[in-house]
Amino acid sequence: MNRVFVLGSINIDISMETDGFPVIGETMLGGSVDYYMGGKGGNQAVAAARIGGRVSLTASVGGDTFGEKALEHLRAEGVDTRFVTVKDGAFTGIASIFRIHSDNAIIVFPGANMLLSETAELVEAFNDKDLFVAQLEVPLETIRQGLYYAKKTNVQTIIDPAPFHADIVNMLDKIDIITPNETEFEGLIGHTLKEQDMEEAMLEWAENHDTQLIVTRGSQGVSYVFDGEVRTISAVKDIEVLDTTGAGDTFTGTLAAFLAEGMPYETAIETANICAALSTTKIGAQTGMPTRAELRHFK
Ligand code: RIB
Repeated sequence: MNRVFVLGSINIDISMETDGFPVIGETMLGGSVDYYMGGKGGNQAVAAARIGGRVSLTASVGGDTFGEKALEHLRAEGVDTRFVTVKDGAFTGIASIFRIHSDNAIIVFPGANMLLSETAELVEAFNDKDLFVAQLEVPLETIRQGLYYAKKTNVQTIIDPAPFHADIVNMLDKIDIITPNETEFEGLIGHTLKEQDMEEAMLEWAENHDTQLIVTRGSQGVSYVFDGEVRTISAVKDIEVLDTTGAGDTFTGTLAAFLAEGMPYETAIETANICAALSTTKIGAQTGMPTRAELRHFK
């Protein structure tokens, strides 16, 4: 089976429920708190592995207990961690996640993620039918190298431009598919969608770029350009949304796995949209990511 090579971050998520934010100098009591495995790279790798993908992760963790736990967890999820390096003396990434009325706000301390630089081994591992996926929580230079090696081997590439960094537009010639949310799409086009209609902006993108665009739009579903028109798949209804953390990661991770197994493009987008919705039904970025059996059961 073709493989999905994810390059990205591993974090420990400290997820707290709250009704709002304190102002400077104020202390507030929050609701429930829990620790979860997270990081956009780890999340995408687990999402792809749960639905049956063959997944390798390139990432780095600190030489601390959190790093050990994260590695144990990823292996138990069936993710190949050969390319995960342990950075002694650094801390594993930490994300403070504040869940407010089923939406969230996140602050990430990147720690060891920002020390990730090893990509050279990938060039030996890639096969031209594989897929390469990255997000932007690790150094951009490392992503640039990963994209370079991927394209050198004709591997299809997907970038989730989160958290957004404007330099990613300089790598578009090596990106086959990009999966921004609406805010990140605004970053990519350099202006807000208040100034231009979404559909018009997407068509303009398609006219001027070879990179295929898929915009994840939360409760409005997902829009993409196909055959010269914008198509939208609605968000899944009749589910109880408990936590949207990791929904975008579930979308990109499962999209990669479906494309790697040869699923047609539009079916892959539609099915990844369902996986992303299912991921929101449990608290924690990875907790609700569906297995293949759960996906079949839902469909
Ligand atoms: O996309 C969700 C992820 O963003 C969380 O798991 C957190 O670790 C941050 O990286």
